[in-house]
Amino acid sequence: MCHWYILIFCVCVYQLIEKLHEKWSPVKKKPYPAMYSSVFGGIILDPAMMVIPIDDHMVHRGHGVFDTGVILDGYLYELDAHLDRFLRSASKARITLPFPRSTLRSILVQLTAASQCKEGTLRYWLSAGPGNFLLSPAKCPTSAFYAVVIADVVSQCKSGVKVITSTIPMKAPQFATMKNVNYLPNVLSIMEAEDEGAYASIWVDDDGFIAEGPNVNVAFITNDKELILPSFDKILSGCTAKRLLELAPKLVEQGHLKSVKTANLTVMEAKSAAEMMYIGSTLPILPIIMWDEQPIGDGKVGDLTMALSDLLWHDMVAGPNTHRICVPY
Ligand SMILES: Cc1ncc(COP(=O)(O)O)c(C=O)c1O
Ligand SMILES: *[C@@H]1O[C@H](CO)[C@@H](O)[C@H](O)[C@H]1NC(C)=O
Repeated sequence: MCHWYILIFCVCVYQLIEKLHEKWSPVKKKPYPAMYSSVFGGIILDPAMMVIPIDDHMVHRGHGVFDTGVILDGYLYELDAHLDRFLRSASKARITLPFPRSTLRSILVQLTAASQCKEGTLRYWLSAGPGNFLLSPAKCPTSAFYAVVIADVVSQCKSGVKVITSTIPMKAPQFATMKNVNYLPNVLSIMEAEDEGAYASIWVDDDGFIAEGPNVNVAFITNDKELILPSFDKILSGCTAKRLLELAPKLVEQGHLKSVKTANLTVMEAKSAAEMMYIGSTLPILPIIMWDEQPIGDGKVGDLTMALSDLLWHDMVAGPNTHRICVPY
Protein backbone atom coordinates (compact mmCIF):
# COMPACT_ATOMS: atom_id res chain seq x y z
CA MET A 1 0.00 0.00 0.00
CA CYS A 2 2.74 2.37 1.06
CA HIS A 3 4.87 1.44 -1.96
CA TRP A 4 2.00 1.92 -4.31
CA TYR A 5 1.28 5.35 -2.85
CA ILE A 6 4.92 6.47 -3.10
CA LEU A 7 5.19 5.19 -6.66
CA ILE A 8 2.11 7.12 -7.79
CA PHE A 9 3.31 10.22 -5.94
CA CYS A 10 6.77 10.10 -7.56
CA VAL A 11 5.31 9.59 -11.01
CA CYS A 12 2.94 12.50 -10.45
CA VAL A 13 5.69 14.92 -9.43
CA TYR A 14 7.80 13.79 -12.39
CA GLN A 15 4.87 14.19 -14.78
CA LEU A 16 4.00 17.53 -13.25
CA ILE A 17 7.49 18.90 -13.82
CA GLU A 18 7.45 17.51 -17.39
CA LYS A 19 4.09 19.21 -17.92
CA LEU A 20 5.30 22.53 -16.51
CA HIS A 21 8.35 22.39 -18.79
CA GLU A 22 6.36 21.39 -21.88
CA LYS A 23 5.07 24.91 -22.36
CA TRP A 24 8.50 26.49 -22.11
CA SER A 25 10.92 24.06 -23.75
CA PRO A 26 10.06 25.11 -27.36
CA VAL A 27 10.33 28.81 -26.42
CA LYS A 28 13.77 30.13 -27.44
CA LYS A 29 13.82 33.48 -25.70
CA LYS A 30 12.16 33.23 -22.29
CA PRO A 31 9.89 36.25 -21.69
CA TYR A 32 10.24 35.98 -17.88
CA PRO A 33 13.97 35.70 -17.17
CA ALA A 34 13.67 35.72 -13.35
CA MET A 35 11.20 35.57 -10.46
CA TYR A 36 11.56 36.07 -6.73
CA SER A 37 9.30 34.34 -4.21
CA SER A 38 9.47 34.76 -0.45
CA VAL A 39 7.71 31.39 -0.23
CA PHE A 40 10.72 29.75 -1.92
CA GLY A 41 13.09 32.22 -0.28
CA GLY A 42 15.02 32.95 -3.44
CA ILE A 43 15.23 33.68 -7.16
CA ILE A 44 13.87 31.26 -9.76
CA LEU A 45 15.25 31.32 -13.32
CA ASP A 46 13.20 28.41 -14.71
CA PRO A 47 9.86 29.82 -15.95
CA ALA A 48 8.19 26.42 -15.38
CA MET A 49 8.80 26.85 -11.64
CA MET A 50 7.42 30.41 -11.45
CA VAL A 51 4.30 29.50 -9.52
CA ILE A 52 2.48 30.69 -6.38
CA PRO A 53 0.48 28.63 -3.85
CA ILE A 54 -3.26 28.26 -4.42
CA ASP A 55 -3.98 28.86 -0.72
CA ASP A 56 -2.38 32.30 -1.00
CA HIS A 57 -5.08 34.85 -0.11
CA MET A 58 -4.07 36.99 -3.08
CA VAL A 59 -5.14 34.11 -5.34
CA HIS A 60 -8.51 33.20 -3.86
CA ARG A 61 -9.56 36.47 -2.13
CA GLY A 62 -7.73 39.18 -4.01
CA HIS A 63 -5.98 40.21 -0.79
CA GLY A 64 -2.85 41.58 -2.40
CA VAL A 65 -1.30 44.74 -3.79
CA PHE A 66 1.18 45.26 -6.60
CA ASP A 67 3.29 47.71 -8.51
CA THR A 68 5.25 47.90 -11.76
CA GLY A 69 8.28 49.75 -12.99
CA VAL A 70 10.27 50.00 -16.19
CA ILE A 71 13.77 48.63 -16.78
CA LEU A 72 15.52 50.68 -19.45
CA ASP A 73 19.18 50.57 -20.54
CA GLY A 74 19.93 48.58 -17.38
CA TYR A 75 18.39 51.14 -15.04
CA LEU A 76 15.26 50.89 -12.89
CA TYR A 77 13.23 54.02 -13.57
CA GLU A 78 11.44 55.64 -10.59
CA LEU A 79 12.00 52.57 -8.38
CA ASP A 80 11.63 54.53 -5.15
CA ALA A 81 8.42 56.30 -6.19
CA HIS A 82 6.88 52.94 -7.12
CA LEU A 83 8.13 51.32 -3.92
CA ASP A 84 6.66 54.15 -1.82
CA ARG A 85 3.27 53.70 -3.51
CA PHE A 86 3.58 49.91 -3.06
CA LEU A 87 4.01 50.36 0.70
CA ARG A 88 1.11 52.84 0.84
CA SER A 89 -1.07 50.30 -0.99
CA ALA A 90 0.03 47.54 1.42
CA SER A 91 -0.83 49.70 4.40
CA LYS A 92 -4.30 50.53 3.01
CA ALA A 93 -4.88 46.80 2.33
CA ARG A 94 -3.65 46.01 5.89
CA ILE A 95 -0.87 43.74 4.66
CA THR A 96 2.18 43.80 6.92
CA LEU A 97 5.57 43.68 5.24
CA PRO A 98 7.44 40.35 5.38
CA PHE A 99 10.71 42.37 5.27
CA PRO A 100 11.63 46.03 5.77
CA ARG A 101 11.48 48.38 2.77
CA SER A 102 15.27 48.29 2.31
CA THR A 103 15.18 44.48 1.96
CA LEU A 104 12.29 44.59 -0.53
CA ARG A 105 14.23 47.17 -2.55
CA SER A 106 17.42 45.14 -2.43
CA ILE A 107 15.55 42.01 -3.59
CA LEU A 108 14.12 43.94 -6.57
CA VAL A 109 17.54 45.26 -7.60
CA GLN A 110 19.21 41.85 -7.17
CA LEU A 111 16.39 40.12 -9.05
CA THR A 112 16.81 42.51 -11.98
CA ALA A 113 20.57 41.88 -11.95
CA ALA A 114 20.02 38.09 -11.88
CA SER A 115 17.59 38.37 -14.81
CA GLN A 116 20.29 39.97 -16.99
CA CYS A 117 17.39 41.90 -18.51
CA LYS A 118 18.25 45.46 -19.58
CA GLU A 119 14.86 46.37 -21.07
CA GLY A 120 11.40 45.42 -19.88
CA THR A 121 9.26 45.65 -16.77
CA LEU A 122 9.58 44.64 -13.15
CA ARG A 123 6.29 43.59 -11.49
CA TYR A 124 5.91 42.81 -7.80
CA TRP A 125 3.21 41.79 -5.36
CA LEU A 126 2.64 41.78 -1.62
CA SER A 127 0.07 39.26 -0.51
CA ALA A 128 -1.65 38.43 2.77
CA GLY A 129 0.12 35.14 2.10
CA PRO A 130 -0.62 31.42 1.98
CA GLY A 131 -2.35 29.73 4.91
CA ASN A 132 -5.87 28.51 4.21
CA PHE A 133 -8.98 29.17 2.14
CA LEU A 134 -10.82 31.35 4.65
CA LEU A 135 -11.69 35.01 4.19
CA SER A 136 -9.77 36.34 7.16
CA PRO A 137 -5.96 36.34 6.89
CA ALA A 138 -5.74 35.85 10.69
CA LYS A 139 -4.25 32.38 10.30
CA CYS A 140 -1.82 33.23 7.49
CA PRO A 141 1.58 32.91 9.20
CA THR A 142 3.31 35.55 7.09
CA SER A 143 2.69 37.86 4.18
CA ALA A 144 4.33 36.92 0.87
CA PHE A 145 6.41 38.94 -1.60
CA TYR A 146 6.66 37.95 -5.25
CA ALA A 147 8.42 39.72 -8.11
CA VAL A 148 9.04 38.95 -11.77
CA VAL A 149 11.11 40.49 -14.55
CA ILE A 150 9.46 40.60 -17.97
CA ALA A 151 11.68 41.18 -20.99
CA ASP A 152 9.97 43.61 -23.35
CA VAL A 153 10.60 46.45 -25.75
CA VAL A 154 10.18 49.86 -24.14
CA SER A 155 9.85 52.70 -26.62
CA GLN A 156 8.21 56.07 -27.09
CA CYS A 157 4.69 56.00 -28.55
CA LYS A 158 4.47 58.14 -31.67
CA SER A 159 1.02 57.46 -33.08
CA GLY A 160 -2.34 58.35 -31.60
CA VAL A 161 -5.11 56.07 -30.37
CA LYS A 162 -8.86 56.09 -30.02
CA VAL A 163 -10.65 55.83 -26.65
CA ILE A 164 -14.20 55.47 -25.36
CA THR A 165 -15.98 56.49 -22.16
CA SER A 166 -16.29 53.44 -19.94
CA THR A 167 -19.73 52.14 -18.95
CA ILE A 168 -18.19 49.83 -16.33
CA PRO A 169 -18.58 51.40 -12.85
CA MET A 170 -15.29 52.69 -11.47
CA LYS A 171 -13.94 51.57 -8.12
CA ALA A 172 -14.81 53.55 -4.97
CA PRO A 173 -12.00 55.96 -4.00
CA GLN A 174 -10.80 53.76 -1.12
CA PHE A 175 -10.04 50.99 -3.61
CA ALA A 176 -9.06 53.07 -6.65
CA THR A 177 -6.35 54.91 -4.69
CA MET A 178 -4.52 51.71 -3.70
CA LYS A 179 -2.99 49.45 -6.33
CA ASN A 180 -4.65 46.22 -5.22
CA VAL A 181 -5.06 43.12 -7.38
CA ASN A 182 -8.84 43.54 -7.78
CA TYR A 183 -8.69 44.70 -11.40
CA LEU A 184 -11.91 43.11 -12.67
CA PRO A 185 -13.55 46.50 -13.37
CA ASN A 186 -10.35 47.57 -15.15
CA VAL A 187 -10.27 44.37 -17.21
CA LEU A 188 -13.93 44.66 -18.22
CA SER A 189 -13.37 48.31 -19.07
CA ILE A 190 -10.49 47.65 -21.47
CA MET A 191 -12.33 44.66 -22.99
CA GLU A 192 -15.33 46.90 -23.63
CA ALA A 193 -13.04 49.40 -25.36
CA GLU A 194 -11.36 46.71 -27.45
CA ASP A 195 -14.79 45.39 -28.49
CA GLU A 196 -15.42 48.81 -30.00
CA GLY A 197 -12.05 49.01 -31.75
CA ALA A 198 -10.63 51.47 -29.21
CA TYR A 199 -7.28 51.19 -27.44
CA ALA A 200 -8.71 51.69 -23.95
CA SER A 201 -11.30 53.65 -21.97
CA ILE A 202 -11.83 56.74 -19.84
CA TRP A 203 -13.63 56.64 -16.50
CA VAL A 204 -15.83 59.54 -15.44
CA ASP A 205 -16.58 59.75 -11.69
CA ASP A 206 -19.98 60.12 -9.97
CA ASP A 207 -19.63 63.93 -9.95
CA GLY A 208 -19.08 63.96 -13.72
CA PHE A 209 -15.33 64.65 -13.50
CA ILE A 210 -12.68 62.88 -15.58
CA ALA A 211 -10.96 60.13 -13.58
CA GLU A 212 -8.44 57.83 -15.30
CA GLY A 213 -8.00 55.00 -17.77
CA PRO A 214 -8.06 51.30 -16.82
CA ASN A 215 -4.31 51.17 -16.11
CA VAL A 216 -3.15 54.64 -17.03
CA ASN A 217 -3.71 58.25 -16.04
CA VAL A 218 -5.01 60.81 -18.49
CA ALA A 219 -4.02 64.42 -19.21
CA PHE A 220 -5.26 67.28 -21.37
CA ILE A 221 -3.89 70.40 -22.99
CA THR A 222 -6.46 73.15 -23.27
CA ASN A 223 -6.76 75.59 -26.14
CA ASP A 224 -4.98 78.07 -23.82
CA LYS A 225 -1.99 75.67 -23.61
CA GLU A 226 -2.67 74.67 -20.01
CA LEU A 227 -1.63 71.14 -19.03
CA ILE A 228 -4.37 69.72 -16.78
CA LEU A 229 -4.42 66.36 -15.00
CA PRO A 230 -7.45 65.18 -13.01
CA SER A 231 -6.63 65.46 -9.29
CA PHE A 232 -5.64 62.21 -7.60
CA ASP A 233 -8.24 62.16 -4.75
CA LYS A 234 -10.31 59.35 -6.25
CA ILE A 235 -7.88 57.62 -8.60
CA LEU A 236 -4.48 55.99 -8.53
CA SER A 237 -1.66 58.43 -7.98
CA GLY A 238 0.40 57.58 -11.07
CA CYS A 239 4.17 57.66 -10.62
CA THR A 240 4.60 58.76 -14.24
CA ALA A 241 1.91 61.44 -13.96
CA LYS A 242 3.56 62.74 -10.76
CA ARG A 243 6.95 62.85 -12.46
CA LEU A 244 5.42 64.66 -15.45
CA LEU A 245 4.03 67.30 -13.07
CA GLU A 246 7.60 67.86 -11.83
CA LEU A 247 9.12 68.02 -15.32
CA ALA A 248 6.45 69.93 -17.28
CA PRO A 249 7.15 73.38 -15.71
CA LYS A 250 10.27 73.36 -17.94
CA LEU A 251 7.92 73.76 -20.93
CA VAL A 252 6.26 76.67 -19.13
CA GLU A 253 9.68 78.35 -18.65
CA GLN A 254 10.37 77.85 -22.35
CA GLY A 255 7.01 79.43 -23.18
CA HIS A 256 5.49 76.33 -24.82
CA LEU A 257 2.91 75.78 -22.04
CA LYS A 258 1.00 78.41 -20.10
CA SER A 259 0.58 76.44 -16.87
CA VAL A 260 0.61 72.99 -15.29
CA LYS A 261 -2.00 71.88 -12.76
CA THR A 262 -4.31 69.20 -11.37
CA ALA A 263 -8.02 70.03 -11.26
CA ASN A 264 -11.58 68.75 -11.43
CA LEU A 265 -12.28 68.51 -15.14
CA THR A 266 -15.76 68.03 -16.59
CA VAL A 267 -16.41 65.85 -19.64
CA MET A 268 -17.42 68.95 -21.62
CA GLU A 269 -14.17 70.75 -20.79
CA ALA A 270 -12.14 67.61 -21.49
CA LYS A 271 -13.76 66.89 -24.84
CA SER A 272 -13.03 70.41 -26.05
CA ALA A 273 -9.32 70.09 -25.19
CA ALA A 274 -6.74 70.72 -27.90
CA GLU A 275 -4.72 67.62 -27.00
CA MET A 276 -5.25 64.54 -24.87
CA MET A 277 -2.97 61.72 -23.72
CA TYR A 278 -2.59 58.64 -21.56
CA ILE A 279 0.26 58.58 -19.04
CA GLY A 280 1.71 55.41 -17.52
CA SER A 281 4.96 53.66 -16.68
CA THR A 282 5.32 51.62 -19.84
CA LEU A 283 4.11 54.29 -22.31
CA PRO A 284 5.28 56.82 -20.90
CA ILE A 285 2.89 59.03 -22.91
CA LEU A 286 0.40 57.85 -25.52
CA PRO A 287 -1.35 60.48 -27.65
CA ILE A 288 -5.16 60.20 -27.86
CA ILE A 289 -6.65 61.56 -31.05
CA MET A 290 -10.25 60.35 -30.91
CA TRP A 291 -12.73 59.98 -28.01
CA ASP A 292 -16.20 58.46 -28.46
CA GLU A 293 -15.82 58.83 -32.25
CA GLN A 294 -15.11 62.56 -31.87
CA PRO A 295 -11.66 63.97 -32.78
CA ILE A 296 -9.60 65.68 -30.06
CA GLY A 297 -8.44 69.04 -31.37
CA ASP A 298 -7.59 68.60 -35.06
CA GLY A 299 -7.54 64.81 -34.65
CA LYS A 300 -3.77 64.64 -35.09
CA VAL A 301 -1.01 63.83 -32.59
CA GLY A 302 -0.38 67.06 -30.69
CA ASP A 303 2.98 68.88 -30.66
CA LEU A 304 2.78 69.59 -26.94
CA THR A 305 1.89 65.96 -26.24
CA MET A 306 5.08 64.93 -28.05
CA ALA A 307 7.09 67.63 -26.25
CA LEU A 308 5.88 66.14 -22.93
CA SER A 309 6.66 62.65 -24.20
CA ASP A 310 10.23 63.77 -25.09
CA LEU A 311 10.63 65.34 -21.65
CA LEU A 312 9.67 62.09 -19.89
CA TRP A 313 11.67 59.94 -22.29
CA HIS A 314 14.79 62.03 -21.72
CA ASP A 315 14.26 61.60 -17.95
CA MET A 316 14.00 57.83 -18.45
CA VAL A 317 17.19 57.49 -20.50
CA ALA A 318 19.34 60.29 -19.11
CA GLY A 319 17.66 61.75 -16.02
CA PRO A 320 19.19 62.21 -12.56
CA ASN A 321 20.34 59.01 -10.81
CA THR A 322 17.88 59.53 -7.96
CA HIS A 323 15.22 58.61 -10.53
CA ARG A 324 17.27 55.99 -12.42
CA ILE A 325 18.70 53.23 -10.25
CA CYS A 326 21.73 51.54 -11.82
CA VAL A 327 21.38 47.74 -11.72
CA PRO A 328 24.63 45.93 -10.73
CA TYR A 329 24.48 43.13 -13.35
C1 LIG B 1 -5.60 52.29 -12.43
C2 LIG B 1 -4.28 52.86 -12.82
N1 LIG B 1 -4.16 54.19 -13.00
C3 LIG B 1 -3.00 54.76 -13.36
C4 LIG B 1 -1.85 54.01 -13.57
C5 LIG B 1 -0.57 54.67 -14.00
O1 LIG B 1 0.39 54.65 -12.97
P1 LIG B 1 1.95 54.62 -13.25
O2 LIG B 1 2.32 55.88 -13.94
O3 LIG B 1 2.53 54.57 -11.87
O4 LIG B 1 2.25 53.43 -14.06
C6 LIG B 1 -1.93 52.62 -13.39
C7 LIG B 1 -0.75 51.76 -13.59
O5 LIG B 1 0.02 51.55 -12.70
C8 LIG B 1 -3.16 52.03 -12.99
O6 LIG B 1 -3.26 50.71 -12.80
C1 LIG C 1 -13.24 68.58 -6.80
O1 LIG C 1 -14.56 68.12 -6.60
C2 LIG C 1 -14.74 67.47 -5.34
C3 LIG C 1 -16.14 66.92 -5.33
O2 LIG C 1 -16.21 65.82 -6.21
C4 LIG C 1 -14.48 68.45 -4.22
O3 LIG C 1 -14.61 67.80 -2.97
C5 LIG C 1 -13.08 69.01 -4.36
O4 LIG C 1 -12.84 70.01 -3.40
C6 LIG C 1 -12.87 69.59 -5.75
N1 LIG C 1 -11.46 69.95 -5.91
C7 LIG C 1 -11.07 71.09 -6.47
C8 LIG C 1 -9.58 71.26 -6.57
O5 LIG C 1 -11.83 71.90 -6.91
